Amino acid sequence: MDPLVIVVMGSKSDWDTMSYVCETLDGFKVPHAVRVLSAHRTPDELERFLAENIARGAQVVIAGAGGAAHLAGVCASKTTLPVLGVPMKTDLAGGLDSLLSTVQMPAGIPVATFATGRAGAVNAAIFATMILGRSRPEYQKAVEDHREVAAAKVLAAGDPREG
Ligand code: RP5
Repeated sequence: MDPLVIVVMGSKSDWDTMSYVCETLDGFKVPHAVRVLSAHRTPDELERFLAENIARGAQVVIAGAGGAAHLAGVCASKTTLPVLGVPMKTDLAGGLDSLLSTVQMPAGIPVATFATGRAGAVNAAIFATMILGRSRPEYQKAVEDHREVAAAKVLAAGDPREG
């Protein structure tokens, strides 16, 4: 099936976090293409992979990277599709380097940046599904259902002193 979302990460070491992107997209039945591709180690292959999957109909890009995390920014330089950045946690203040590298794009080429780690990965996937939901009602419904389940879980927890 042609991908609606492109997921890239700068290194295989990002997979522990980025697997939550794919798991969440799978939960919403969103077809996605996934690849380890680095902005500085494999820039030409990155450009090719983006172009190939955009030509196949992809609508959103999710890019995860750590450290001097320019992957999402480079993706954004190559397309006007929305690019969602997921900063990896690192040894430097829990990933503050990745977060600032991803979020602090100069005016003109935006990257929508999410939290570091699992929360950012899950939320980027939900947000991508919300974007798709503007033109595909099944994905809007999938996100609504997901919220209902989340709300039911909170309510089911009730008074935490009881069990
Ligand atoms: C970035 O450098 C990657 O996104 C990764 O988070 C970080 C470290 O990469 P490895 O040295 O583990 O390959 O490009």
